[in-house]
Amino acid sequence: MCGIVGYIGENDALPILIDGLKRLEYRGYDSSGIAVCDGDKVFSVKAVGKIAELEKKINEKNPLNPPFEGGQKITLLPKEGEGGFNIGIAHTRWATHGAPTEINAHPHHDCTGKIWLVHNGIIENYQQLKNHLLEKGHKFISETDTEVIAHLLEDLYDDNITETLKKVLKLVKGTYGLVAFHNDEPNKILVAKEGSPLVIGLGENETIIASDVSAILRYTKQVIYLDDGEIAEIKGDGIKIYDANDSEVDKKVNEIEWDMTQAEKQGYPHFMLKEIFEQPETIINSMRGRYIVEEGKAKLGGLDNIADKIRDIEKIIIVACGTAKHAGLVGEYMLEEYAGIPTEIEYASEFRYRQPVIDKKTAVLVLSQSGETADTLAALKEAKGKGVLTLGIVNVVGSSIARETDAGVYNHIGPEIAVASTKAFTSQLTILALLTVLLGRQRNMSLVTGKRIIEELQVLPEKIKKILDTNENIKKISEKYFSMKNFAYLGRKYNNPVAQEGALKLKEISYIHAEGFAGGEMKHGPIAMIDENFPSFFISPRDSVYEKNISNMQEIKARNGKIIAIATEGDEKIKETANDVIYIPKSLEMLTPILASIPLQLFAYHVAVLKGLDVDKPRNLAKSVTVE
Ligand code: M6R
Repeated sequence: MCGIVGYIGENDALPILIDGLKRLEYRGYDSSGIAVCDGDKVFSVKAVGKIAELEKKINEKNPLNPPFEGGQKITLLPKEGEGGFNIGIAHTRWATHGAPTEINAHPHHDCTGKIWLVHNGIIENYQQLKNHLLEKGHKFISETDTEVIAHLLEDLYDDNITETLKKVLKLVKGTYGLVAFHNDEPNKILVAKEGSPLVIGLGENETIIASDVSAILRYTKQVIYLDDGEIAEIKGDGIKIYDANDSEVDKKVNEIEWDMTQAEKQGYPHFMLKEIFEQPETIINSMRGRYIVEEGKAKLGGLDNIADKIRDIEKIIIVACGTAKHAGLVGEYMLEEYAGIPTEIEYASEFRYRQPVIDKKTAVLVLSQSGETADTLAALKEAKGKGVLTLGIVNVVGSSIARETDAGVYNHIGPEIAVASTKAFTSQLTILALLTVLLGRQRNMSLVTGKRIIEELQVLPEKIKKILDTNENIKKISEKYFSMKNFAYLGRKYNNPVAQEGALKLKEISYIHAEGFAGGEMKHGPIAMIDENFPSFFISPRDSVYEKNISNMQEIKARNGKIIAIATEGDEKIKETANDVIYIPKSLEMLTPILASIPLQLFAYHVAVLKGLDVDKPRNLAKSVTVE
């Protein structure tokens, strides 16, 4: 949830750290801080709020002239003759222990002010460790769990910070992505990982460490992904990585496939709008090379090496959180109707703590855009512990979930930066449809049905473009409704999850209360809330439950509720009941969620903009939820 950047190299650390923080700001943004070491003193600044606040404070405190405006060179290089490297660490925080204040912002340091570190994750036994250190006379400044690591390092320091860190991490329980340095050893920076992502970028005469590749992309595409339990000692002349048993390990260097332009707004006012408009292309990228139309078959390369095992699957449990969970719900309908495989969907946060009864013919499929969601990762580990086949649909290559699953499929949609997930959702649905074809054709699905699904998938990008062309109409509708305090979203069958997803989009970026319901459930309670100030979205394309939807709309109308309908092009009848209609092209019923979700994304976007809110970085949220 928080973002980490670390630097060691021949260039000036500060501009690189600030640039990295800006690129990670979407991960957590209630406070931030930097610490740069020149082998003599440490220059540290922290600020509450966005990175812009941190930049302002750096200008106030910066001993240098001209003031730092971002981008230009800052000379904090090691003193001549010392042969050291420029070192710095930076952090953007999403508060867990202690309020978002300057004091609680990272980096944290020990009593001497020589040991500095930034940390993502949670130290579960911090109180016990803190009590022990307090008894020994250590002075704590913050309320954070992180600070305890700095004092432990100080307490056990034996003139070699690498060896000290190894000892400290044996005492710590919990999760961490950690970057630290000691001012007395200014030629090295230390990195450690347990349950929280960290990537080491290998540049020319410099190494950039980050919790997310987007902070590294500008400098290098060569990266090493650290595994849990590993500690890296990075010096100007090389990197040594140790595993949990203290044995030195040889790590593979990977090439990042994303590029910088994908991580920028490219003229759009917000990442969310850019990502919504990217969907015709991201759907193509999610499908490219993954089907054979004439044979009505899907081929997912990432599952090739477990081809025999997937033939034997008798049940699937899909596990995910948030938007990915809604995609999984659509997947459940697809897999049962078309592949004939009994499928369950479950919140990862629940799955991990109950005792699911899973037999060996069950596969657990996890969905995650980031590949780092703590609950999903823990659920995956729980499933692995039971010895079942684990599969993933993940966007971030090399992420923890991607590496932990037995096999999987990447989304190939580039980085999703806006906190509100949009293009990942439609890509997950696309891949679930391909998976349905793959598994279905191994079972009872006919060639004709397989072909029909693939042909419909192929024309989706054009249909999405048509919906995006109606953006102005959707904006006008949002202008009519944006002052409402409550919304209901209703849909049946494949569009029940779309209703839930539409409500989630609205509440997370506009802070308006919105609930998604299965259309048939309304009369069992929620309809009591309906009046003229409580509008309902109905996702009611011409499908097998169309007439049922119309009846539910009548029930709302009879209680003076306003209705906005998502309907199939050419459906004039719906105008008799709905106050406003947004049309989508006709498609196969199982694929309508991919189309129907797009107007809901745009509606939520426009409402948030009209309310003057920070669309890409809504309050209290973070892009990747790496804590429980
Ligand atoms: O990275 P993941 O797909 O695992 O993330 C899961 C949820 O945290 C995520 O979908 C969240 O609900 C989004 N903010 C929704 O827009």
